[in-house]
Amino acid sequence: MSLYAIGDLHLSFSVDKPMDVFGRVWKNHEKKIWKYWNKRVTDRDTVVVTGDHSWGRNLEQSRKDLEFIAELPGRKILLRGNHDMFWDAKKTQRLNEAFRGRLEFLQNNWFAYEDYALVGTKGYCYEGLDTYEHFEKIRDRELERLRISFEAARMSGISGEKAGISPAFGSEEIRPAGNRKYIMFLHYPPTSIGEASSPFTRMAEAYGAAKVVYSHCHGKARFDDSFKGYVNGIEYKLVSGDYLNFKPELILE
Ligand SMILES: [Fe+2]
Repeated sequence: MSLYAIGDLHLSFSVDKPMDVFGRVWKNHEKKIWKYWNKRVTDRDTVVVTGDHSWGRNLEQSRKDLEFIAELPGRKILLRGNHDMFWDAKKTQRLNEAFRGRLEFLQNNWFAYEDYALVGTKGYCYEGLDTYEHFEKIRDRELERLRISFEAARMSGISGEKAGISPAFGSEEIRPAGNRKYIMFLHYPPTSIGEASSPFTRMAEAYGAAKVVYSHCHGKARFDDSFKGYVNGIEYKLVSGDYLNFKPELILE
């Protein structure tokens, strides 16, 4: 039984969006996904798919892409990416009900994997595409969603004792109560280019996350946009589909 992750499958079974214009690695990438996933992942494993699943502009246009993922082996937990138009942020619960037993959707909630809590949100980093004020607004909304995810997991792990105050984000004494272990998932990289830390990395540290797993970065020029390897005791992993040549990455044995 293992935990894997991969992101940015960018499927388009219902809409015309050829991906091989982005380089050879994208040629027939859905066939590679199918092949490598079936080779590595069994029905006893769990795969977190870190966003940008589908080019569809609504649920109907994304249905075939989601069905493709649902048919792959293992338990599938999906995170929201910036291109996932089918996923109304306010309707995560509805998606969880519609795909119950086939796909699970991670936002404002959490999922258990052995003795780990899998938490996450889309995240955000500054890419120069909007004003800094707008960036901060979106980032703060994502931080709140991440905090809700951590808190839901943290509170659920505490029985028979008071959970204590909600960790005041940014303060020194943040230490989660209970004995939860966390793996934190983001779609966007945890830092903007050049940053040595961010509110996302500080939240990962505050809750004592063991690993932070993210994707979104495409092409060699972007693979080093953010952390890879150990920073302040947390292991950071990039799992963009093209970075992995579409082989699901082992997160926990
Ligand atoms: Fe993305």
